[in-house]
Amino acid sequence: MSWKFHAPSLIARKRDGGILEDGQIRDLIKGFTAGDVTDAQMSAFAMAVNFQGMNATETASLTYAMLESGERFSFRERLYPIVDKHSTGGIGDKVSLILAPLVACCDCWIPMVSGRGLGITGGTLDKLESIPGFRVGLSLDEAQRQLEKIGVVMMGQTEQFCPADKKFYALRDVTGTVPSIPLITASIMSKKLAESLDRLVLDVKYGSGAFMKTREQALVLADSMLAVGREMGVAVSCELNAMDEPLGHAVGNALEVVEALEIMQGRGADDLLKLVLSQAEKITLMTEGELLKRISSGQVLDKFATLVSHQNGCIKQLFHLAEIHHADVIREVVSLETGTVVALDAGMVGQSALELGAGRAMATDTVNHAVGFDRLIKTGDFIRRGDLLARIHASCEDEARRAEEKLREALRIE
Ligand code: URA
Repeated sequence: MSWKFHAPSLIARKRDGGILEDGQIRDLIKGFTAGDVTDAQMSAFAMAVNFQGMNATETASLTYAMLESGERFSFRERLYPIVDKHSTGGIGDKVSLILAPLVACCDCWIPMVSGRGLGITGGTLDKLESIPGFRVGLSLDEAQRQLEKIGVVMMGQTEQFCPADKKFYALRDVTGTVPSIPLITASIMSKKLAESLDRLVLDVKYGSGAFMKTREQALVLADSMLAVGREMGVAVSCELNAMDEPLGHAVGNALEVVEALEIMQGRGADDLLKLVLSQAEKITLMTEGELLKRISSGQVLDKFATLVSHQNGCIKQLFHLAEIHHADVIREVVSLETGTVVALDAGMVGQSALELGAGRAMATDTVNHAVGFDRLIKTGDFIRRGDLLARIHASCEDEARRAEEKLREALRIE
């Protein structure tokens, strides 16, 4: 590292609204990845960026620096288009679990690199790890071989692959520094660019359960990610999707895998299926009808089972997750009134799931795969007094009671 590099000065410069140079950002990320820049310094840097932002040039530098912290997928032969999707994070968002095997049934390769829970939002890796034995920490070599064999891999950042994002993501999760446009852009695009993609679709969320609270902010985030994608020659498309209520009927790690399996078996929530299909259409270039056929024929479920067994997951237990992850308390919450559900605040449900133990307060925390909500009511549903609003899965009565209070607060019935 150059003798001029001095992390505290860079942090202070950003804190005071200054612009960082490409070399400075690269040095900072190199130092952080190597362990020479401490977690405390990087957290302070993240907070400075959170408040002061970064311009497009700095954001591109941060993305490249994070991309270059590790290796990239490289293919001897690109037999099929290499495609992926990424969501900026939501509540009950289990689209990836369904979309990845679906896309792999459509003559595409999908090397999906995801993250863990972030803030109040759930993470694909935590959900997958609710399947006993499932390994998300593959080597690049293993991942490439699996992709060439079955067309799909679902993995996390490793020491070899996007190590800077692996460390930075975990820090941001527990330091209140997630909702920053340059940090989200660099985190997502460094992972996706390291996959050497042909096509990428981004699901940019806005609303109470998303990091961008308004559609206008989501548009700025989308533009920021599109700009980086353009520069790297990847065909990127963006969807802007509201995250005002949880997606589907379940929130929580194992509960969401159960719901994803239902969709793969041709049942389940319309809002969830709709997003899976619209994003899959954009990267596979297939029609909704063709995609639906692959689900109804059982191909997608088979592909998911193949993926699970290739990554060491236990197939026998895959269809018994509800019993394996049986929470100590399962509380049914019923309506105290009759009317139409006009709102179910996603942010409050996400916060409640986090407090039940579905997410982390410290980077070293383990998540509880069993807890969360299922059978959640949807906005637009008409309900009578005594009808089920949701089930709460909790570790104890006290936590279930607090979650019920929060759920009632999150609901508006008129
Ligand atoms: N997903 C990511 O991978 N990173 C973010 O910062 C937000 C969502």
